[in-house]
Amino acid sequence: MEGYNMEKNIVHISDVHFGDPTHSDDLVSKLKSQVEEENPDVIILSGDLTYSGFINEYLEAKEFIEDLKSAAETYIVPGNHDARNVGLEHFRNLIGDTNFVKIDRSCKLAVIGLNSSRPDVDDGNIGAFQLKWLKSKLERVPKNFGTMVIFHHHLIPIPQSGRERNILLDSGDLLQLLIDEGVDIVLGGHKHVPNVVTLEGMAVINAGTATTRRLRGTGLPCYNQLILNEVDMEANLVFTESGIKRNVANYTFVETDSGVKIHSYNHKAAFRMKP
Ligand SMILES: [Fe+2]
Ligand SMILES: [Fe+2]
Repeated sequence: MEGYNMEKNIVHISDVHFGDPTHSDDLVSKLKSQVEEENPDVIILSGDLTYSGFINEYLEAKEFIEDLKSAAETYIVPGNHDARNVGLEHFRNLIGDTNFVKIDRSCKLAVIGLNSSRPDVDDGNIGAFQLKWLKSKLERVPKNFGTMVIFHHHLIPIPQSGRERNILLDSGDLLQLLIDEGVDIVLGGHKHVPNVVTLEGMAVINAGTATTRRLRGTGLPCYNQLILNEVDMEANLVFTESGIKRNVANYTFVETDSGVKIHSYNHKAAFRMKP
């Protein structure tokens, strides 16, 4: 990440699930006011905007997203719930493309979004076509740019998320590609359990559910915040109910012969964090 020339404050939200019986309007309004106060540079929504992919759920999600967009630039990928009932038609009509590449030249960051969902199944899949597309996009990112890839499903198993199911079927191929191409940060959501882990110089960060009570064990509604600058990155967990923020990881960017690698320190088990 050599060459970053500004600090970037990123709010990473996931699994807002409009239409879920456990979805909470109160949590939505708390989240909106916390985001407004945080005044981030970028907001990322890593899928499961809806519960069943229905139009009324998408319309509510769109209203929420319009509010987020008035606070910051917003990047969004779909989740498995969004692809239920041919829901990706509504995603494309109301939200935007399910894949994207955004190059932020001001802070030398490339953000790539992938669609890991498939119609009416909870398992994820990137697929040969998207893997090829991702490789070609990553190859074109200038060497001194940071790269962030976003998709909904877990890349690797996450503690406290129960039995391994609803997985990314081709996660091995995707993992190898992300490592080969020197991707710096991977963001996702899915099982509503926050997690941070570093793999081969790549920070893999999952967010919990920000606005529902579809929780595992003693987990709480939460989202993530990342603060990047030219030499390091701080990852924080924010509890939606209270707005209380807890630091979960810090990373330094270290230049090596094969490019810039991320080293982590102060890495904590995000799922054990309490407000
Ligand atoms: Fe979800
Ligand atoms: Fe999901």
